[in-house]
Amino acid sequence: MKEEKYELLYKQIASLLEGETDAVATMSNVAAMIHDAFRFWWTGFYHVSGGELLLGPFQGPVACMHIGYGKGVCGTAWKERRTVVVPDVEQFPGHIACSSESRSEIVVPVVQRGVVVAVLDIDSRELGTFDDVDAQWLEKIVALLPPMPLAEQEIYLAAGCFWGAEKYLKLIEGVTFTEVGFANGNTENPTYKEVYTDQTGYAETVKLRYNPAVASLRFLLEMYFKAIDPTSLNKQGEDEGTRYRTGIYYTDPADRAIIDKVVADEAKKYGLPLQVEVEPLRNFYPAEEYHQDYLDKNPSGYCHLPVALFELAKKAKDTK
Ligand code: SME
Repeated sequence: MKEEKYELLYKQIASLLEGETDAVATMSNVAAMIHDAFRFWWTGFYHVSGGELLLGPFQGPVACMHIGYGKGVCGTAWKERRTVVVPDVEQFPGHIACSSESRSEIVVPVVQRGVVVAVLDIDSRELGTFDDVDAQWLEKIVALLPPMPLAEQEIYLAAGCFWGAEKYLKLIEGVTFTEVGFANGNTENPTYKEVYTDQTGYAETVKLRYNPAVASLRFLLEMYFKAIDPTSLNKQGEDEGTRYRTGIYYTDPADRAIIDKVVADEAKKYGLPLQVEVEPLRNFYPAEEYHQDYLDKNPSGYCHLPVALFELAKKAKDTK
């Protein structure tokens, strides 16, 4: 019964969404069609915006507008990147009761280019409304949504000497901004000279901004691994010291799962423990101006990376 209903609904949604590209318009009608077909209590979307889930198109009573990462059923589905079925909301630790009438719930993440961009949340006034059948069909339905415009994101990568690292990373399509500096150290306003003593705890780091619709974080990290020896501790090329350690520093907690996955996949290739530090960004100070785009300003300047890597970066495309 439920299967047949979903099968028909899926077909209707697929044909309605064909050729449509607007996120709000399509989420609105998807919410309305699901809601109408099953007469649920609340059916709608939250989309990821500014590091939280923000209320989107929905059908039903007034709802909470903001949900944090890892919070409630919605934040859990986002964090764990999986559908969460809750037969009894009272039994779900941290459940956010937007409406006291809600008894059971399902939340399906909308994953695009490896990133959770939104969640579909459905509430029922009865216990145990949702099961694997709902999960499977709703996952198929959200896969019909067009790509959502994604806000620019940032990541901080330490890859040995930042002169070559910046030149390399900047060439990758989708990278929109780079800046070299010092990350995750212990002093205030470090200068290059201070960091050079290796006593400050800072790592030479490249700050990247990127357009996730063109280059995903996974892709950028795979490119990053091509430019480092991840098994080498505090040494890349001829450069030695803690300031030349390799590290991935993130500001968005949702990035952690993606980073851990890429690092684990790389570790398998080497069969050795990797020395790449993965940490939240604690601090970052831009380096002095003459270090910015150093190799553009000084084409024959020192660089620990081979020229072939720059050619590779120019051609690389995120095709997944
Ligand atoms: N119950 C959800 C909050 C959203 S409302 O159900 C519309 C949660 O715990 O995430």
